[in-house]
Amino acid sequence: MKALVLAGGLGTRLRPLTHTMPKQLIPVANKPVLHYGLRAIKDADITDVGIVVDGHDDHVRRAIGNGSAFGLNVSYIPQDAPSGLAHCVLIAREFLGDADFVMYLGDNIVMDGIVALRDDFLTRRPAAMVMTGKVLNPTDFGIAEVDTADRIVRLEEKPKVPRSDLAVIGAYAFSPAIHQAVRSVTPNWRHEREITDALTWLIDHGFDVNAHPVSGYWKDAGRIDDLLDCNREVLGTIQRAVHGNVGEGSELIGPVVVETGASVLASRIVGPAIIGADASVVRSTVGPCTSIGPDCEVMDTTIENSILLTGASLRGVRGISASVIGRSARVHARSAPERRLILGDDSKMLIEP
Ligand code: G1P
Repeated sequence: MKALVLAGGLGTRLRPLTHTMPKQLIPVANKPVLHYGLRAIKDADITDVGIVVDGHDDHVRRAIGNGSAFGLNVSYIPQDAPSGLAHCVLIAREFLGDADFVMYLGDNIVMDGIVALRDDFLTRRPAAMVMTGKVLNPTDFGIAEVDTADRIVRLEEKPKVPRSDLAVIGAYAFSPAIHQAVRSVTPNWRHEREITDALTWLIDHGFDVNAHPVSGYWKDAGRIDDLLDCNREVLGTIQRAVHGNVGEGSELIGPVVVETGASVLASRIVGPAIIGADASVVRSTVGPCTSIGPDCEVMDTTIENSILLTGASLRGVRGISASVIGRSARVHARSAPERRLILGDDSKMLIEP
């Protein structure tokens, strides 16, 4: 089996972060979202991985390289424009050959991985199998209707009036029958070829398309609140590990990771929380559910339920919550009455009047 990982797309719902990095590289518990998918693929003993990337952006290529750090053999398939999930399969034809493959959406976290999906697919041998999970907001997903044997009888992409709450989530297993299906799909009004339409083509032509109910936590980390939710969930699995320096007068409570070169002085870290390599935390309260990236500076600050990307700096700010702060961004208190803001495009700041 091979794997096709989708790491293109514009990430419009994660602006401004995605102005300068693809959404799949935004960190959750200090690791890019994409790492979780690649690890799940490796755990399923799949090593030949094709990653579909934005053809005009080499961030993913630089971050993942040839995949050897994950024990994978990675090649790249550039996509000129975000033209839909079925288009990704279309342009990956040469890489995929006639192999069965798993398609994994690089912005999804599936905590229990894809071993069960792979095994279910290899046992039942349908033309296609999709991982499904119940959602509260079915209008945001591809929605499936299934019979009692978990066969999908109907699929609809982001329905206005959903017929079920069973969403297609970030992992699919395909036989080579999918290639004819994706060739038959025409682009929708957004010029995207939907994988949902390819699956519908298979159903309409008598192929078996099965659902594989997900177990455990999963999330499409496509929005800030979902990213924070993933961060909480992944941090919930960490064990205490202190590699950096924790000075006297500091207190670590519960599962806290302090990475190499980090220093925590006169501060209280409430787990689950992670303090990245070479970060410094001084006279602050951090956590719970907070990931401080490498090289960050947190001084005289209180912060919880948040993510700081590499090199961000907070000084003298209290009550930061549910926030994601980009690379090298600064939030500093100042005593002058006027407020000085230098915010990038699409930034969001919620302040007292
Ligand atoms: C895509 C698929 C949709 C699926 C979702 C899962 O939507 O088109 O069928 O339910 O991923 O994350 P997107 O996130 O690209 O809007």
